[in-house]
Amino acid sequence: MANIVVFSGAGMSAESGIGTFRNSGGLWENYRIEEVATPEAWVKNPQKVHEFYNLRRKEIIATSPNHAHTKVVELERYGDVQVITQNIDDLHERSGSSCVIHLHGEIRYAKSSGPNQEQAYYRIEGDSLDIDDKCPEGYPLRPHVVWFGENVPNYDKAQQIIEQADILIVIGTSLQVYPAAGLIHYASRATLKIVIDPDERLDVSKDFVQIKSAATTGMDRCLELVKEHLKQ
Ligand code: OAD
Repeated sequence: MANIVVFSGAGMSAESGIGTFRNSGGLWENYRIEEVATPEAWVKNPQKVHEFYNLRRKEIIATSPNHAHTKVVELERYGDVQVITQNIDDLHERSGSSCVIHLHGEIRYAKSSGPNQEQAYYRIEGDSLDIDDKCPEGYPLRPHVVWFGENVPNYDKAQQIIEQADILIVIGTSLQVYPAAGLIHYASRATLKIVIDPDERLDVSKDFVQIKSAATTGMDRCLELVKEHLKQ
């Protein structure tokens, strides 16, 4: 079975109605990163940080996976598929993908803001976290997301998976946020690399087949290319 790796970003969920970060009208036009998505923001105004992520969580709970997520699941007919996503939503899981690694955390989980943050993740039952919510050790709970300036705990695991990829599919990411964006350079043994994104200016090397379209139509074309490639 071929090892197929899907590396997804915000564009994957755009057609489910979840806004991207850097497109015109994107989240980072309406919020200042340093006020909602850094450790310093949490220290200064945890209520504001909670409000920001509570809104994101509500949106995600209210929406559904789109056709592109479904097509990623369909890839499992053709190989061992591992999804590495920068997204904090759970739309890959809800569409049925078997193996999903989140590089930037999972919005529907919380973790301790104390010293042992990566030891346990707590499923958030409703849609909101509050400054009074505490972990069993008594530290305030924070969203299980990676903020700017923080380590990416799943990075090494993701790198190892990408190194083993026979086919790499990059979808809906501007490839501007490091270290995540650097992962695609580890796919040295991949014999088919596809990038799906409507942005003409996306900066990828020439060995990528570029599908310049939205995730949904792009995944339809991508499935055809994967099937053709595996027949060769
Ligand atoms: P960006 O907002 O930077 O990029 C979204 C990409 O999706 C762009 O390249 C768009 O052209 C593309 N896009 C837009 N609509 C699309 C559609 N319908 N189908 C396919 N592609 C579409 O989002 P990311 O690259 O995911 O990190 O951002 C990476 C990280 O930056 C995020 O994980 C988040 C953010 O700050 C943290 O919060 C740590």
